[in-house]
Amino acid sequence: MTNILCIGAGYVGGPTMSVIAKHCPQHRVVVVDISEEKIAAWNSDNLPIYEPGLKEVVEEARGRNLFFSTEVDKNIAEADIIFVSVNTPTKTFGRGAGKAADLQYWEKTARQILKNSTSPKVVVEKSTLPVRTAQAMERILNSNDKGIHFDVLSNPEFLAEGTAIQDMEKPDRVLIGGRETASGQRAVQRLVEIYAHWVPRERIITTNLWSSELSKLVANAFLAQRISSINAISNLCEKTEADIEEVAHAIGTDQRIGPHFLKASVGFGGSCFQKDILNLVYLCEYYGLPEVAAYWEQVVTMNEYQKENFVSKIVATMFNTVAGKRIALFGAAFKAHTGDTRETAALAVCRSLLEEHAQVVVTDPYALENFRADLGEDASRVVFAPDPYEAAEGAHAIALVTEWPQFAELDYQRIFESMEKPAFIFDGRNILKHRELFEIGFNVLPIGKPPMLHF
Ligand code: UDX
Ligand code: UDX
Repeated sequence: MTNILCIGAGYVGGPTMSVIAKHCPQHRVVVVDISEEKIAAWNSDNLPIYEPGLKEVVEEARGRNLFFSTEVDKNIAEADIIFVSVNTPTKTFGRGAGKAADLQYWEKTARQILKNSTSPKVVVEKSTLPVRTAQAMERILNSNDKGIHFDVLSNPEFLAEGTAIQDMEKPDRVLIGGRETASGQRAVQRLVEIYAHWVPRERIITTNLWSSELSKLVANAFLAQRISSINAISNLCEKTEADIEEVAHAIGTDQRIGPHFLKASVGFGGSCFQKDILNLVYLCEYYGLPEVAAYWEQVVTMNEYQKENFVSKIVATMFNTVAGKRIALFGAAFKAHTGDTRETAALAVCRSLLEEHAQVVVTDPYALENFRADLGEDASRVVFAPDPYEAAEGAHAIALVTEWPQFAELDYQRIFESMEKPAFIFDGRNILKHRELFEIGFNVLPIGKPPMLHF
């Protein structure tokens, strides 16, 4: 039996460890967190995050070989393998503020591991970190006079929210980076054996530490770059009567390009893309590569533009003023099937509309409470309506920002009748039936397609 510990019971640590526990009943898996509230939720019927299929996996393993606890020190002492998935947000102060990763929780955790260890351990970086962080970790951990050796591995997470369980159950690949020493390679093999309980061996890639750390940043940068690229072209489509979906389909059928991640939108969100790209940019600057840094930074710049331009389009179309007009924001989550609102485009859109003195009403099936917290003081200026029909009632416009499939299935005839006229729909995700909406009487403004106006 191996004692596996994970420090950090967030979006990454919780689901990842639950799936490991499910497939490795012979190992004991403990997930710890400094937040008592979060641990209490993991131990209840009301899990702290919404993720399809998660509840079933947790219920199968919890109490058998999966435990959630706030006892960090004791569990460190007992562990053989320690995953660290504490948050590594963008630094808000000092050198690299706004770009570099804030590693204070990581380093604090490393010191806590050292303090409470009496036996050798494998420490696995699960959090996304700048390249060569493992070296700093090795130095901190192995600078002890207890004679204990620590092996540091990098095992980045590639799961996407909303499909986290599916992504863990059937990963495209698992990436494990380690030192090329005998001890480093033994540590890599121990982790390979754990994943091999359910992942085919040819899908478990092993590399050196730095390739693994860098690959995580690069994977997210490439994915985000595709979205910024298609979004850039969506603006050109709106000017030229080309249709972004036809263009995406036409280019995506080229096998070298491929069809995924070519959906034009109001802009990408989520806790990872922007943070990881800025991290990459900072690394390039740090290593004296300003042209490389500028190249990647443009992906984030384009995304900021996309969110801002969506609001500019709303204001311009609605006769250059939305002051006092009720606008129903359909969606708060950064994408469908999650309650997560970190870096959501909805927040930028909502704030911009408030600046224009619009009355914003927001509806979302899972994310309203998180969104309220993100808005802070501005929350008092926004109405939260769980029912989309209620949100749209009396509104001048609907701005759809999250691709929840249920938004496509609403009775838009009923919604149209309850709205102020002329009624507008800005479909920031292109999930609605634009021709039908136009025939009902709406003025319809998709992303990357010609507007359909009655005037
Ligand atoms: C986080 C990072 O955002 C991401 O970059 C990284 O790849 C994995 O970790 P996520 O799981 O989504 O992703 O973060 P979050 O949901 O904030 O979870 C982190 C948890 O760590 C929180 O529950 C926090 O309470 C906990 N934590 C943080 C500790 O237990 N100890 C600490 O010292 C700091
Ligand atoms: C991402 C990566 O996909 C995952 O591998 C990594 O581990 C963490 O970061 P996540 O942020 O959960 O996962 O969601 P993802 O599905 O990648 O979507 C990110 C954002 O891009 C969302 O706002 C989504 O709506 C948007 N998006 C995605 C588009 O606008 N168009 C697309 O074609 C795809």
